[in-house]
Amino acid sequence: MTTPTLTVSHPVDVAISPLLAARWSPRGFDADHQIDRDDLLSIVEAARWAPSAGNTQPWAFVAVRRGTTEFDSIVESLTGFNRAWTPRASALIVFAVVPERAGKMTAWVDYDLGQAAAYATMQAEHLGLRAHQMGGFDPEAIRDAFELPAGVIAKTVMAIGKHDSSEDVAPEIRRRDAGERDRLPLTELLIRPA
Ligand SMILES: Cc1cc2nc3c(=O)[nH]c(=O)nc-3n(C[C@H](O)[C@H](O)[C@H](O)COP(=O)(O)O)c2cc1C
Repeated sequence: MTTPTLTVSHPVDVAISPLLAARWSPRGFDADHQIDRDDLLSIVEAARWAPSAGNTQPWAFVAVRRGTTEFDSIVESLTGFNRAWTPRASALIVFAVVPERAGKMTAWVDYDLGQAAAYATMQAEHLGLRAHQMGGFDPEAIRDAFELPAGVIAKTVMAIGKHDSSEDVAPEIRRRDAGERDRLPLTELLIRPA
């Protein structure tokens, strides 16, 4: 069987940073790739420097590398197909909100956490890695595994690793990775044209 050609394209309507234009969320990861501890920490550091409403930083992270019991606990918390492809990722990061820290700014805690995740994603891209976020997991399983305090709520899990399109990756995962990526046109999103 031949490896399908990766048909993923990044057809931007208007030129943007090459780093942003090249970003995508694969499921096929290289199970031999090991992420350096410092590289993983730099991804969390990027999240730390994201903006937040009133600089309240209403977030907390669990960052673990493949080959640890903590990594396996996160995989076990995932639902559906997420459990099939994440074991090959090099690291997993749980993104959690800490609403108590937000004071009067609670309206924006999810917004702020999303920015932190975007920053982490782009730091991973900067390192030549890919990130894939997931909402398909059981937050209570994460709470139990990591003894999260009552006020801390896991919102997403991010898989990080080196993309692998080789036959080492299961055909269904490669098939999904080879699918077309699309977006609504810019003209449909702009309420007022620039
Ligand atoms: C909050 C959030 C939750 C997501 N949940 C999942 C998920 O559970 N499983 C999955 O495979 N992808 C998940 N994704 C990835 C999206 O499907 C993906 O980002 C989207 O299809 C756009 O593709 P791209 O990132 O390659 O541009 C999630 C993304 C976000 C931001």
